[in-house]
Amino acid sequence: MKHWLEPVLEKENLMAKQHVVLLFGGNSSEHDVSKRSCYNYYKALEATGKYDLSVVAIAQNGYFLDADRSMKIMMQEDEQPLVDSYMAELKEKGILSPIKALEDLGQIDIFFPVVHGNLGEDGTLQGLFRLLDKPYVGAALRGHAVSFDKVLTKEILTQNNVRNTKYLVTHAFDEKKLTWAEVEEQLGSVVFVKAANQGSSVGISRAENEAEYEAALKDSFQYDHKVLIEQAVNGPRELEVGVIGNDKILVSEIGAHKVPDQGGDGKGWYDYHSKFVDNSSVAFEIPANLPDAVTEEIKDMSKRAYRALNLQGEARMDFLIDEDNVPYLGEPNTLPGFTNMSLFKRLWDYSDIDNAKLADMLVQYGFDAYKKSKEISYSFESLGEEKVGTFNGKDGNKN
Ligand SMILES: Nc1ncnc2c1ncn2[C@@H]1O[C@H](COP(=O)(O)OP(=O)(O)O)[C@@H](O)[C@H]1O
Ligand SMILES: [Mg+2]
Repeated sequence: MKHWLEPVLEKENLMAKQHVVLLFGGNSSEHDVSKRSCYNYYKALEATGKYDLSVVAIAQNGYFLDADRSMKIMMQEDEQPLVDSYMAELKEKGILSPIKALEDLGQIDIFFPVVHGNLGEDGTLQGLFRLLDKPYVGAALRGHAVSFDKVLTKEILTQNNVRNTKYLVTHAFDEKKLTWAEVEEQLGSVVFVKAANQGSSVGISRAENEAEYEAALKDSFQYDHKVLIEQAVNGPRELEVGVIGNDKILVSEIGAHKVPDQGGDGKGWYDYHSKFVDNSSVAFEIPANLPDAVTEEIKDMSKRAYRALNLQGEARMDFLIDEDNVPYLGEPNTLPGFTNMSLFKRLWDYSDIDNAKLADMLVQYGFDAYKKSKEISYSFESLGEEKVGTFNGKDGNKN
């Protein structure tokens, strides 16, 4: 068996099936969502008949599990006993123990991360793949990391004229935090307060008075030292668009969902509960009923955002659209959910790219991006003896 670190491009038998390793789990609130997404990608890749497949579960304690246990977990077996037995089997623990399970997989041709949120969507795993010199599906470290930070994202979108809501930023280190009076004056009387680096609606609150604002800040600061305060879009419809590709990019149909107004007071939003706990009353619509010009504008904004944020492989762009049909780019998701309730999964079906074809295309984009990355030169010159200039008139080589 070849060692897993051997470069894929030197594979001897080019007719052999490529070995795709899907990763799921992680330590974000979307750990279980990721299991469902991974299962669907596994089935989609299996349907192509083109690949050898393995799955690796990343337990909540950060350990990568062996392929057999991982498969059981993906198939919804009780996770904790399997994690416990794996941990018990690991005899000596060293610095690389958390990722040791990768060594038993044989040659890995490409990684397919399906870890949402923390670790998967913030660039961490992509850094590991790069260190291992392996192709992988989806955006590179930088695209993920920048898109995961809601403040950096807004700065880049604004710089590139992609419409997004007005915002302010406050930091834990600010001696004087933004007061409600300042926020209200600059953004209006309804705002969303968000931890900069989170997802799944965690660390997010809607605020429309001083007490709510103060409580919201306190909550958000639990999740990050940087907090974004955003003007609320009035009675928004929420839209989602799939974007895939590297140099050439494809945009899916647009999907819409309307979150039920839980309180009956017009204040409902897509919070953690309506997203994950009970999605049953969210109404979806594909394609979204929009004037043609707005559809075109949204597709164009999606493409421009994808480019500006250095994305590749796949992303889902989320929009908020106000009562006058003005679209605002809400946020990019660089590792979109692929569960049965995920719009990303359904949008491509409506765009004539079925799940098997989509998964196959994503793998191919991963190989393409890897090949392209090899065109970049990292060569260096050996420096020899060090020669220093002068410091305040004195020869720097002397001390
Ligand atoms: N400016 C806004 N105006 C109206 N609703 C918003 C606004 N920002 C966020 N929301 C609501 O909060 C939800 C979560 O916000 P989002 O920025 O997408 O964070 P997350 O990364 O947690 O998904 C959105 O889907 C929407 O329902
Ligand atoms: Mg969102």
